[in-house]
Amino acid sequence: MANLTKVPFLDLVTPHKELEEELLAVVKTAFSNAGFIGGPMVEEFEREFARFCDAKFCVGVNSGTDALRFAFMAGGVEPGDIVITVPHTFIATTEAISQAGGHIAFIDINEQTYTLDPEKLREYIEIKCEFDAQAGKLIERASKRKVAAIVPVHLYGQMADMDPIMDLAAKYNLVVIEDACQAHGAEYFSKKANAWKKAGSIGKAAAFSFYPGKNLGACGEGGAVTTNDEAMAQRMKMIRDHGQAKKYYHDIEGYNGRLDSIQAGWLSVKLRHLAKWNESRRALAHSYHELFADAKDSLIVPVEAAWTKGVYHLYVVRVQDREALQAHLAEAGIATGIHYPIPLHLQKAYEHLGYKKGAFPVTERVAAEIVSLPMFPQLGHTLQKEVAEKVVEFVESKQTVAS
Ligand SMILES: Cc1ncc(COP(=O)(O)O)c(C=O)c1O
Repeated sequence: MANLTKVPFLDLVTPHKELEEELLAVVKTAFSNAGFIGGPMVEEFEREFARFCDAKFCVGVNSGTDALRFAFMAGGVEPGDIVITVPHTFIATTEAISQAGGHIAFIDINEQTYTLDPEKLREYIEIKCEFDAQAGKLIERASKRKVAAIVPVHLYGQMADMDPIMDLAAKYNLVVIEDACQAHGAEYFSKKANAWKKAGSIGKAAAFSFYPGKNLGACGEGGAVTTNDEAMAQRMKMIRDHGQAKKYYHDIEGYNGRLDSIQAGWLSVKLRHLAKWNESRRALAHSYHELFADAKDSLIVPVEAAWTKGVYHLYVVRVQDREALQAHLAEAGIATGIHYPIPLHLQKAYEHLGYKKGAFPVTERVAAEIVSLPMFPQLGHTLQKEVAEKVVEFVESKQTVAS
């Protein structure tokens, strides 16, 4: 039988205990003026988060899923349009595409970074599609559908290789919506701009999730879209609020998709600590790398491409027989996760898309081998060493059996 949890996968209690007074003050403010929806706390957080992301505008919404959906709608995805993304992501990415009326098309990931492979994207565009220069539209040959948007997912806190993706988007008139739900504060070195750029500042818009376990998490549900495009920000403000720019004047049908004031207030408190928390995650990731240095032949550790500064939302390793590794760690009271075990193109929900096993070999290989190890700013090196020792013990026992 597994021991009691000694090393949790994630500790959400400690940071909230540490910030308890400030967080409770937010509730008192909201109670004192009954400002529960919209108002100064939401506007202040939107300003602060836009600044944090180096974006001009931020629109607070009630989840990362709605952030994506509203960005697709405001970004011009029309019913039946193709929206390209990866099969190695959380299903919210593709749910939002469908909910916005789009049609999902998958492109495989890069084996090192686990993010959208720009070369495979180029092949899809140049081999499977044709560009109608007069109409300025990219059309998929087989389905005759218009390709409208690309969604690079900055998975595990590492950004996708944005320069080539943005170049292709510009060439073929496609909108790029970053899925930055796991990447608050991640950075990308753009050779084109010769500058580091923040997640959420490169695409036409970017979606963030504030689900509690995220690098910046609410105490409940929350999300935001960042953009440098004022018209797009205005449109999303309408979409999140029943299509109204003025109370009871509805230009379009929208949604009830607002960010609560109390959540916004809590997010402002926590945002002040985000840079420090991200640094702790990076330091922990680097010590994991070092602790695993001798196990490299049997354990694949995350690769941080030269063009990214990851924020390690997750620390994901690859190993043969990952279920046995998870059992070995569970026996020692160490919790783990798998993000994600079944590629989206093989999920029952997407049978109708017609993809078969083997369609995306990198995603399929990666999904069969990944294990997420404990990673949170308060983990500390003592507990981390225990995790690493147990992982190395497992890997070495396998080597002994094999030799
Ligand atoms: C990559 C990715 N996209 C989208 C989402 C959706 O965010 P939310 O849970 O806030 O709707 C998540 C959150 O789990 C995510 O990890």
